Amino acid sequence: MKITKAVIPAAGLGTRFLPASKAVPKEMLTIVDKPTLQYIVEEAAASGIEDILIIIGRNKETIENHFDRSPEVEWALEKKGHLEELEEIRRISTMVNIHYIRQPEPLGLGHAILCAKTFIGQEAFAVLLGDDVIYSPDPCTSQLIRAYEKYNSSIIGVQRVAKEDLVKYGNLKGDAVEDGVYRVEALVEKPQPQEIYSELAVLGRHILTPGIFKTLEETSPGRDGEIQLTDALSALAQIEEIYAFEFQGRRYDLGSKQGFLEANIEYALRDEELRESLREYLRKTLTY
Ligand code: G1P
Repeated sequence: MKITKAVIPAAGLGTRFLPASKAVPKEMLTIVDKPTLQYIVEEAAASGIEDILIIIGRNKETIENHFDRSPEVEWALEKKGHLEELEEIRRISTMVNIHYIRQPEPLGLGHAILCAKTFIGQEAFAVLLGDDVIYSPDPCTSQLIRAYEKYNSSIIGVQRVAKEDLVKYGNLKGDAVEDGVYRVEALVEKPQPQEIYSELAVLGRHILTPGIFKTLEETSPGRDGEIQLTDALSALAQIEEIYAFEFQGRRYDLGSKQGFLEANIEYALRDEELRESLREYLRKTLTY
């Protein structure tokens, strides 16, 4: 069955980004001139997703406002004849259907995904986490959907990360079945150094079968006392086949200040209007 639904968890408190995320949801912090969440929604839309459920928490109303129509702004742009900007502003609210649900308490990523159970029903669906923005001409979610169509099983997006960073992510245990594809044996959430199975980190893109909801319901709180998606996936791998897929693309870790700065610089360097002046500025500044 075609994958048309996606879930984007955005209910986290953003404690790694305080004080910036105190009143502004961290998903609304910008890379150049767009909120990070818009990059994620655009990736989903470019991958053929038609309906997105965003899991929000308290104080996230600006997310709903951003993806809604904005008649005052549209009217002002129209009056001034700024038609390109008008089209861009309208596109944000029309590119895909967006639905919202609140996660009543921040009980973890696994619990947030479980809030999507009724919306998803019996279909396989995509999951996109906002902390990972992935730049790739072939959208990451499209790559995963193609892997899903080939294997007809849940697909976990993975990439190699530096050894010292493996403790920050879910970690994969599994054997390669072809170049860049692994049969998942087990997963461990943020392993201690002695628990690391491989150099492959679970990153924020998955295609999941609805079987995940039952394992999520049965998953007890794990790392940090939260219901972890990684633990539920590891349990699901004992019941049905799951594959990990090494996707292509430049990933930015927006969970860290360094990753955030790298994303801003690199996206600006890709922007025709900003490229030359920014390069010039960086050249000058770096000679200090
Ligand atoms: C979450 C997941 C983790 C995954 C990471 C990817 O962790 O729990 O398995 O590796 O996203 O970004 P978080 O960064 O939300 O703590």
